[in-house]
Amino acid sequence: MKLTLRHVSKIYEETRAVDDVSLETMPDSGVLVLIGPSGGGKSTLLRLIGGLEPPTNGEIFHDGTLLPTDEIELQSFRRKNGFLFQNFNLFPHLSALDNLILPLTKVHGMEKSPAEDTARQVLARFDLEQHAEKMPVQLSGGQQQRVGLARAMAHQPGLLLLDEPTSALDPEMKAEVLDVIDELRQEGQKIILTTHEMGFAKNIGDEIVFLSRGKIVGSGKSAGLFQNPPSPEIEQFLARVMKW
Ligand SMILES: Nc1ncnc2c1ncn2[C@@H]1O[C@H](COP(=O)(O)OP(=O)(O)O)[C@@H](O)[C@H]1O
Ligand SMILES: [Mg+2]
Repeated sequence: MKLTLRHVSKIYEETRAVDDVSLETMPDSGVLVLIGPSGGGKSTLLRLIGGLEPPTNGEIFHDGTLLPTDEIELQSFRRKNGFLFQNFNLFPHLSALDNLILPLTKVHGMEKSPAEDTARQVLARFDLEQHAEKMPVQLSGGQQQRVGLARAMAHQPGLLLLDEPTSALDPEMKAEVLDVIDELRQEGQKIILTTHEMGFAKNIGDEIVFLSRGKIVGSGKSAGLFQNPPSPEIEQFLARVMKW
């Protein structure tokens, strides 16, 4: 995955959520992690990169191809990606299985029967086959996020985008979800994620980008950035969040 951003901004009325961000990832980057203080623009940048909304200004390239700004073309780009957000966003009135089948049929145009076969295979791959018929309320938070991950992976996305996938979970459930994300990385899945789990960011990220007030304050290879924070702000942030 090679991602290039040129002077990308997203402005909501008065707020510059993303403010003139330029970035070029290393060509061999498998996992890019966005970190930084709340309100810094991580979620917004992730949505722009995933094509959920167009930037106000600037250009985003995936492997050299410019992301369209036209809504119809953006939709077809978006379909190639997989998304998972912090609050379990499963459809509450559908079983785990139907949560996977619905996008496969409605968004990806599969017939019901092959969609069900695919959904069952993907649930099995995530060790969730015994939960296929359960409704989201009958699943633990960790299981719900794993179903969410299974749903995001069911159409074999080129890029998986995760926005604080574990922030609403207890520690044990966090570990269960982080393990699955790490397995996907090992299988070669390209991932961009935001997280407040610094240990996880450090271990899973090939490349880290630190965002604050909509701007990139520092970026680089994971090991280097954590060992030698490139700015006082990053050093202070890491010292604060890694203190406990
Ligand atoms: N849809 C929106 N409408 C208006 N303001 C927004 C919207 N999304 C984000 N913002 C603002 O943009 C800034 C960055 O938010 P966000 O990207 O969610 O940061 P982070 O994920 O780092 O906490 C915040 O000030 C937030 O209030
Ligand atoms: Mg956020």
